[in-house]
Amino acid sequence: MAKQIKTPDVVCRCEWSGNRANAFDVTDGTKYTSKISVGCRQKAAEGNYLIGRFTTPSGNHQWRKWEGEVSSPTPVAVDIPTDHAEVLNFIHSSYTLKPQGLVMSELKWKYLIRSAVRGKNIMMTGPAGCGKTMAAKSVVNSLDRPDFYFNLGATQDPRATLIGNVHFNNKTGTYFSESLFVKAIQTPNAVILLDELTRAHPDAWNILMTVLDYGQRYLRLDEQDGQATIRVADGVTFVATANIGNEYTATRQLDKALMDRFTIVEMDVLTDVEETGLLEYMFPHVENSLPKKCS
Ligand SMILES: Nc1ncnc2c1ncn2[C@@H]1O[C@H](COP(=O)(O)OP(=O)(O)OP(=O)(O)O)[C@@H](O)[C@H]1O
Ligand SMILES: [Mg+2]
Repeated sequence: MAKQIKTPDVVCRCEWSGNRANAFDVTDGTKYTSKISVGCRQKAAEGNYLIGRFTTPSGNHQWRKWEGEVSSPTPVAVDIPTDHAEVLNFIHSSYTLKPQGLVMSELKWKYLIRSAVRGKNIMMTGPAGCGKTMAAKSVVNSLDRPDFYFNLGATQDPRATLIGNVHFNNKTGTYFSESLFVKAIQTPNAVILLDELTRAHPDAWNILMTVLDYGQRYLRLDEQDGQATIRVADGVTFVATANIGNEYTATRQLDKALMDRFTIVEMDVLTDVEETGLLEYMFPHVENSLPKKCS
């Protein structure tokens, strides 16, 4: 009988994610959870040992404890949420999370949720009053994740809002205090709402360029001693709203490069029927014919 091959072709580390033990290749982080039995993964996670994949003479794969060498160090990959099937299920069932008072097509809502759980930057566009801010806030509320709200149209000083301020103290002299935005981007899985992005000062856009770039994701605190570079935490999602068009005279034409950093979701204006339905939902005690006259 031919001898079994003694060296595994894949070595995995198992780690708990809630009550599931996931298995990741220690060299490249590939997920092998679905290929390994539950018991084997759980034992390896509990015993904190590595498991290797061995090929039997008949060509089958066997997973068992591996105490030999591993070619490269374990990557510290945090994937949130970890399981692909779980994410898909969540997106498919997410329409139930949409508040009844928000009128939005199922497809758009799911697209919004999908972008948020996958950590994409989302920009909601559309005419005034079409529900951009409402939809963005609803997404934030539906996901059980830390959220932060910044109205970039209302801020007078983008550097103070996005980076921080230098203050003076009688005893210690000047000191730098970080902005809430700095705290927000360091919070893993945070959903950060950037309302009225088209009304923001171009300085704000320039500061946001590196933060929103998937390849960079950092913010430099120029004002701070040592000019620290703050990394955007894993899973942070940005949701911006914007009014685009000449009629919005107090807005600025959005920088093309900044716009490219977002996935655009265009909100539709409500039709008469949708508006009547919404009014009837919001004011159920009002005589039926009145919402029809109002809309
Ligand atoms: N699709 C919608 N579903 C439910 N309510 C809506 C919708 N669109 C607008 N509304 C109503 O209109 C109000 C204004 O919406 P919202 O502030 O979200 O608009 P906006 O698109 O952010 O406008 P702006 O461009 O002026 O910021 C909401 O509070 C809500 O009552
Ligand atoms: Mg708005």
